[in-house]
Amino acid sequence: MQIVTTLAELATAREALAAPVGLVPTMGYLHKGHLSLVRRARDECATVAASIFVNPTQFGPSEDLSSYPRNLDGDLGAFEAAGVDLVWTPTPEVMYPPGFQTWVTVEEVTKRLEGERRPGHFRGVATVVAKLFNGVRPQRAYFGQKDAQQVVVIRQMARDLSYPIEIVVCPTVREADGLAMSSRNAYLSPQEREAATVLYRGLAAARAAFDAGECDAEKLRQIVADRVAGEPLARLDYVSCAHPDTLEELGRGSPTRFSGALLSLAAWVGNTRLIDNVVLEEERVRDPRP
Ligand code: PAJ
Repeated sequence: MQIVTTLAELATAREALAAPVGLVPTMGYLHKGHLSLVRRARDECATVAASIFVNPTQFGPSEDLSSYPRNLDGDLGAFEAAGVDLVWTPTPEVMYPPGFQTWVTVEEVTKRLEGERRPGHFRGVATVVAKLFNGVRPQRAYFGQKDAQQVVVIRQMARDLSYPIEIVVCPTVREADGLAMSSRNAYLSPQEREAATVLYRGLAAARAAFDAGECDAEKLRQIVADRVAGEPLARLDYVSCAHPDTLEELGRGSPTRFSGALLSLAAWVGNTRLIDNVVLEEERVRDPRP
């Protein structure tokens, strides 16, 4: 496994890579969710490239950039064991040289949900992912459904900026009790970790209602909100039942009229903000249950 940091090192390494190249962008502190993307890329691509970069521009001023968990040596070992061929670990100076002033802004689909609560977040994500695409020039790039709005934003950006890259979305990997794997789960105390299961329990309850025929998006949102309200250590930030592509909130009966719906939420558990989602589809195809 080759490890590169500078753009010059990356350019030289890129020359030798067999196509198709699959890219797995990460911020490190790897868990099984990240590694499921690597596995999928390994299955589908001649070369697997991955990046580790805690991207400062996607964190708000009061967010957890300085405390974001890091484990570079462990991450490199996990990538190597998973069969990654090339890892790019740029420094902030490589990504954002002095005088940096050019940004990628995806306009509409960033206005709601995470984009509304985290101003500038998706500008940072879209910009860094564009730079990762430019540096690695993959044929495919792998993202997790866990960050559902991120997938919508990256798809939009890839289409709008004419990147010849297939965006591959992989199912959310969960702990045995349903909690979506996340680097931020490391912040949770044992009590909070237990309480955090309410996110998926709420989503699963609403999905069960949907399966039983409930098509009123407001009722589905209410089921999630009620569940989360029942957990004293959790505080709901938002719950959304939205069109999966436009992210516009749906109303009564809407999920059946559209191709499906994205049921998503953000909640605080103690001082940790967690997100999760499930996709409601008429075909009943969805992420695997734990
Ligand atoms: P990060 O949070 O490290 O996640 C890297 C990739 O792993 C993302 O595509 C994310 O959706 C996916 N992922 C995280 N948890 C997952 C889970 N439980 N199951 C499946 N996939 C999961 O997302 C980012 O980094 C950054 O925003 C990035 C795209 C790297 C840009 O900086």
